[in-house]
Amino acid sequence: MDCLTSRVIGTGSALPKRILTNGEIEQWVDTSDAWIRERTGIIERRIAGKGESTAELAAMAGRRALEDAEIVAESLDFIIVATFTPSSGMPSDACLVQSALGASRAVCLDINAACSGFLFALQMAHASICAGLAHYILVIGAENISKVVDWKDRGTCILFGDGAGAVVLGASDSFRHGILDFECGSDGERGAVLTMTSRQESKMAYLKMDGQEVFKFAVRKVPEMISVLAERNHLALEEIDWYLLHQANARILGAAAKRLSLSLERFPMNLDRYGNTSAASIPILLDECCKKGIFLEGQKMILAGFGGGLTWGSCLLSW
Ligand code: ACO
Repeated sequence: MDCLTSRVIGTGSALPKRILTNGEIEQWVDTSDAWIRERTGIIERRIAGKGESTAELAAMAGRRALEDAEIVAESLDFIIVATFTPSSGMPSDACLVQSALGASRAVCLDINAACSGFLFALQMAHASICAGLAHYILVIGAENISKVVDWKDRGTCILFGDGAGAVVLGASDSFRHGILDFECGSDGERGAVLTMTSRQESKMAYLKMDGQEVFKFAVRKVPEMISVLAERNHLALEEIDWYLLHQANARILGAAAKRLSLSLERFPMNLDRYGNTSAASIPILLDECCKKGIFLEGQKMILAGFGGGLTWGSCLLSW
């Protein structure tokens, strides 16, 4: 088969069992269910427990994506895990996934680009397939953010949740079904607005965020990169059927849709149930939409993430 591009051939996800509601958080910080719902759209999130480390969730999501793609783990050439909350410093979570799945041929590595991690990993996987270096790649976004959240900081602890999402990327001989383009970037000079100290710097590694600055950045950058992708590919925004955005805050999605003059119906959401799962949010959403059967063959969609770094990444594809 001639490889013209790469395409998603399977999806999977894994969420911890424990549900943490806004009502429970109300009991230990000065907040309310009404405030959280109104300012973020989040109602509950999942919190990882025993047997649900980042690598274990990643392996569960990966296994489901392989089953969906109907390929065996030994077929995988690469496993890339995007995470800023890996299970340990070494081995990488990708190596732990390899061991759990028995993907003996795969080259394994983790990448960290915070909430844009899945998009950056997808771009690397796409490039590897197009360069002929790989046939099948497992791309996973997985996080265990509850372990690095300061549960006394009401500005951040309400936002995040744990989980993992995965896709299997394979070669495609037609641009009718596959990835068409990427638009990604980083701005390290503005990294201070969203940080997590490493355990070398401090015993407790807490996530810290200037929420308003991240909010303003997202509301400007998301419509900008979507417009660049559409224009470069000679598509009107209305010709793109679905916009799968990083699930950070319902108001960010609403503002992006408004700036692009698009109906919010094209922006599927699940942040009400899972909160912000960083690198995992887009592949979890993609898997849910696939399982609901809402995507039709040949439909166009844009996946777009943004977050710490600062970083941003988006991908235009034909389903
Ligand atoms: N409950 C009640 N009040 C709160 C809470 C809370 N949980 N959090 C903040 N407040 C208060 C503030 O203290 C402030 O009070 P003040 O006016 O008396 O000072 C007031 O609410 C308004 O605070 P803002 O920060 O202006 O609230 P805002 O509407 O901006 O919402 C939020 C805050 C939800 C954090 C928002 O800024 C946001 O979602 N930002 C983006 C975060 C994000 O998307 N991160 C993604 C990247 S994450 C990654 O890459 C790992």
